[in-house]
Amino acid sequence: MKYDIKNIQLADNGRVRIEWAERDMPVLRQVRARFEQEKPLAGKKLSACLHVTAETANLMRTLKAGGAEVVLCASNPLSTQDDVAASLVRDYQIPVFAINGEDHATYYAHIRTAIEHHPVITMDDGADLVSNIHSDYPEVAAQVIGSMEETTTGVIRLRAMAKDGALKFPVIAVNDATTKNLFDNRYGTGQSTVDGIIRATDILLAGKNVVVAGYGWCGRGFASRCRGMGSNVIITEVDPIRALEAAMDGFRVMPMIEAAKEGDLFCTLTGDIHVIRPEHMQVMKDGAIIANSGHFNVEIDLEGLQKLAVKGPTEVRRLVDEYILPNSRRIYVLAEGRLINLAAAEGHPASVMDMSFATQALATEWVAKNNGNLAVKVHNVPSDIEDWVSKLKLKSMKIEIDELTEEQKEYLSSWEMGT
Ligand code: ADE
Repeated sequence: MKYDIKNIQLADNGRVRIEWAERDMPVLRQVRARFEQEKPLAGKKLSACLHVTAETANLMRTLKAGGAEVVLCASNPLSTQDDVAASLVRDYQIPVFAINGEDHATYYAHIRTAIEHHPVITMDDGADLVSNIHSDYPEVAAQVIGSMEETTTGVIRLRAMAKDGALKFPVIAVNDATTKNLFDNRYGTGQSTVDGIIRATDILLAGKNVVVAGYGWCGRGFASRCRGMGSNVIITEVDPIRALEAAMDGFRVMPMIEAAKEGDLFCTLTGDIHVIRPEHMQVMKDGAIIANSGHFNVEIDLEGLQKLAVKGPTEVRRLVDEYILPNSRRIYVLAEGRLINLAAAEGHPASVMDMSFATQALATEWVAKNNGNLAVKVHNVPSDIEDWVSKLKLKSMKIEIDELTEEQKEYLSSWEMGT
């Protein structure tokens, strides 16, 4: 078996982490148990480009249990858990091509290796596999029956491809499933972003002015966690409805150029480019900290900062780079502007990835069942998958809910009753 990982000797520790995560993934465990029996993915070659974490390892085990021939590469150069990669190779015989800290060339070489596996199903977190297949591998594009996308940024890219008529195979927007974004993006990103910032800096959040760029699900989650820890949170937005929502949720809302003067800590969660630019950095306070929790490292204009700075980057602590500006103020950038929750912490906790990855596994089964019959477009996850995942998650949390009475069902379906 071919693979490219940091060190196979790390596997013992990786296995412990995979098993620890598994304990908190009851829905995915059930999917795996059924897949073992029914083998819905039998003989299907599957390439996945995901963050190589303990939670992803449990998804890979599930897909393999379903009969898929799985290969895994990293969806970000800084997020790979090398011990998990080692255990996937040694204990689960799953080929992994991912090394934490890999350079640009290695990152793309790993993606190419995953494509050269000749998958019929692909899975992405950020659409790097799909875009590379589209640009360089027409013969692979012709055989892919469907592809799952895990994250907001990836779905934005895929919708742009579909709009331009460039998309060559069906894709499933797993990110857009409620069982994914409502929980993973809000509670997962909320908690893991706080976790990453604290692990990188050890700062106290209480009393800090925290500027949150973007009030989508991820921004909402992070803002509410920071408020819970005693920060004064300021939101910046470009969407008037989201800005209103933030204001009515009780946050201060202002343009970045104003927020820049007030913030002690800045975090971007927008999915867009150059949200924090030199004109903002120039007015920041001495000691301001800037982090990004969006998928790509484009949200902070680091080239602009480099041109502006008279000194730096100087690594003053692991994953903390100091830049000194002409006005002598110091600015700290975390994890080179890469997504802080996976670069400095361990990503979202298993309990929330349980729902995202159960949805991923079931969407994969759906693609396999509809082999060749799906239209070439961006599909939503079927609602019965979402229903099943949410009911099972509730059950695993020992939470019961009410059922509609017959009278209530009738009331809801009629327009004549009880007005
Ligand atoms: N994205 C965010 N957190 C993650 C995790 N723990 N595993 C895989 N992908 C993630």
